[in-house]
Amino acid sequence: MKVFITGASSGIGAALASAYATRYENEEVILGLAARRSEHLQKLKIQLEKTPQIRCRLYPLDVRDQSALTQAASDFIQHHGAPDTVIACAGVSRGTLTEHQEDIAAFQAVMDINVMGMVHTFQPFISTMRAKGGGQLVGIASVAGVRGLPGAGAYSASKAAAISYLESLRVEMAPCNISVTTIAPGYIRTPMTDVNTYKMPFLMDANVAAIKFIKAIEGKRRFVVIPWQMGWLARLMKFIPPVVWDWAMKKAPYKPRLDWDWL
Ligand SMILES: NC(=O)c1ccc[n+]([C@@H]2O[C@H](COP(=O)([O-])OP(=O)(O)OC[C@H]3O[C@@H](n4cnc5c(N)ncnc54)[C@H](OP(=O)(O)O)[C@@H]3O)[C@@H](O)[C@H]2O)c1
Repeated sequence: MKVFITGASSGIGAALASAYATRYENEEVILGLAARRSEHLQKLKIQLEKTPQIRCRLYPLDVRDQSALTQAASDFIQHHGAPDTVIACAGVSRGTLTEHQEDIAAFQAVMDINVMGMVHTFQPFISTMRAKGGGQLVGIASVAGVRGLPGAGAYSASKAAAISYLESLRVEMAPCNISVTTIAPGYIRTPMTDVNTYKMPFLMDANVAAIKFIKAIEGKRRFVVIPWQMGWLARLMKFIPPVVWDWAMKKAPYKPRLDWDWL
């Protein structure tokens, strides 16, 4: 089993790496782990490689850097061949308000990381996967991409873009036997949601979620919302008319607008 994961330094990405290592304990597991914080990746590698058949290759990079991902993909392929699965999990979420000029940079960063980062992640693997006869691309979107959430314009727009992009990609990749899975998580307990002060319905532990994600990937699901209760809410969100949406969102809590040193 060979899997390349971005956003592997924390939260869902790190939980996915651990869950793959546990689930495939009786076979060799090669994990390509990418994120900016190399010390977090290093810690994860040490922990995972305690199991002899797990091997991790680390790629400290920013998903906005297309050439860094091209180099990472080429290194992974050179050492291990085409991955079975590439998971674009790297993402950021910040409160943004269009009326604040200083939020423009945050809009740009959220779109670049959550949308272009996904494109940069998949692109350098596709020709090798095609030549191998197939593979799987997985994009981590969000229920926040189903409708526009107030106070989170950048994040909602980026995840809506990711959902549409992945849908285009799914049809494009079908003739070469590369399946595309879109996972739209609801609330998962990670550093991204730890900052939220409001109530998060159906909040799920990241390790529990990771196992469900892997089952959805193995089942080659086209689009899945996890947890399933959020799936029903997402269906409802999609079909209610704008006037009802506006009314329902009137008192919705806003994600905090934080400092900009994270850019
Ligand atoms: N938690 C939820 O409830 C939830 C719900 C819906 C969707 N999601 C999505 O799930 C994904 C993972 O989120 P999470 O909850 O696990 O959050 P998290 O714990 O904050 O993890 C985000 C990951 O993305 C990486 N990342 C961020 N910016 C990056 C960049 N420019 N280049 C490379 N890596 C970058 C981070 O690593 P570095 O900082 O080390 O680079 C980290 O590994 C995101 O796409 C998020 O939008 C999460």
